[in-house]
Amino acid sequence: MAKKKLNVGMIGYGFMGRTHSNAFRKVGNFFDLDYQPVLKAICGRTETGVKAFADKWGYESVETDWRKMIDRKDIDIIDICTPNDSHMEIAIAAAQAGKMIMCEKPLARTGAEGEKMVAAVEGARVANSVWYNYRRVPAVTMAKQLIDEGRLGKIFHYRAKFLQDWTISADLPQGGTGLWRLDAAAAGSGVTGDLLAHCIDTAIWLNGSVDSVTAMTETFIKERKHNLTGKVEKVGIDDACAFLARFDNGSLATFESTRYARGHKALYTLEINGEHASIAWDLHDLHRLQWFDHRDESKLRGWKSIHVTDGDQPYMKNWWVPGLQIGYEHTFVHQVADFLEGVANNKPTTPSFREALETQYICDAVLDSAKTGKWTEVKSLG
Ligand SMILES: NC(=O)c1ccc[n+]([C@@H]2O[C@H](COP(=O)([O-])OP(=O)(O)OC[C@H]3O[C@@H](n4cnc5c(N)ncnc54)[C@H](O)[C@@H]3O)[C@@H](O)[C@H]2O)c1
Repeated sequence: MAKKKLNVGMIGYGFMGRTHSNAFRKVGNFFDLDYQPVLKAICGRTETGVKAFADKWGYESVETDWRKMIDRKDIDIIDICTPNDSHMEIAIAAAQAGKMIMCEKPLARTGAEGEKMVAAVEGARVANSVWYNYRRVPAVTMAKQLIDEGRLGKIFHYRAKFLQDWTISADLPQGGTGLWRLDAAAAGSGVTGDLLAHCIDTAIWLNGSVDSVTAMTETFIKERKHNLTGKVEKVGIDDACAFLARFDNGSLATFESTRYARGHKALYTLEINGEHASIAWDLHDLHRLQWFDHRDESKLRGWKSIHVTDGDQPYMKNWWVPGLQIGYEHTFVHQVADFLEGVANNKPTTPSFREALETQYICDAVLDSAKTGKWTEVKSLG
């Protein structure tokens, strides 16, 4: 049977524009789905740049104003791959135009922005999802299955960190292409909304809601030249953040992130300790899940390193043969596959905008606590 076509209009063609384009192109080759995405239009602000991208990735047309793209009748899905300060405006306009929306993380700069986005997509009843792609690393998805099957028993601890080292130089400017993450107006916050948002999303997916947090943040370099104004300006982002959290299920957590951990490029690690078993995972070795089960015979008990590549492990039957691993880009292919399956079955794709709002509320509470020095309750999703 011929597949039904879904026309994608992507906005932004930087890092995520590439990962998503690759995913839309590949998904139909590896997953058996009713729908086939079509790279219909790509939008960027400079015509030469956007045309070059369209040629390279096979987009049928280009736009230089995202509003025109949203107005187009031949676009079904708007994919938001722009910096955080534009997510809300684009998503609300897309929802009002009745488009399905896939939005990059974080959902927004703040919970207040996120609430407006949730109201817009739910009011318009359009399919929506946020690209928290680490949920779809097969080893992480398998961790979720093991927890849901009750194999760990009661959870006591959750531990996550996300470490990088690319902003240590005081000469690095803030703002503009490539450096918008250092500009609080564009990013919303620093490592909290950028890196910890990933850790928080995975954590609430695996371990449930967070009740309260206490945090500390630091901005190590207080002033940087701003690329858009040419002036030296105050830095408004958090360069590092560490926080403690209490989950609703009674477990305790520690989270840490920084862009000042010399030697670490994208070290996202997590560990969960339960009554019977523990799980650990490391993005630098993403195809492995570490597993310790206290119920094993004592003389053989120890940490197992499970190579998550077999057909009965999440997503893997769609790829090669057992033993051959996949990588970072495949997590985006999985997200597209799940989204298209959700569209076919009229089921939401996790995380929806509403689910991603919970991460936003936790980020808000973390930043608030860092300012007041007090334990802060996380706003409830209601
Ligand atoms: N899921 C992940 O793991 C992950 C990883 C990186 C980035 N992100 C998120 O993806 C988003 C984009 O990040 P990135 O690293 O791709 O950034 P980037 O700087 O590489 O690309 C951003 C793109 O948006 C374009 N853009 C900016 N304003 C625009 C506008 N008004 N109209 C049209 N295009 C515009 C830029 O020209 C550029 O092409 C951010 O929200 C970021 O947090 C997610």
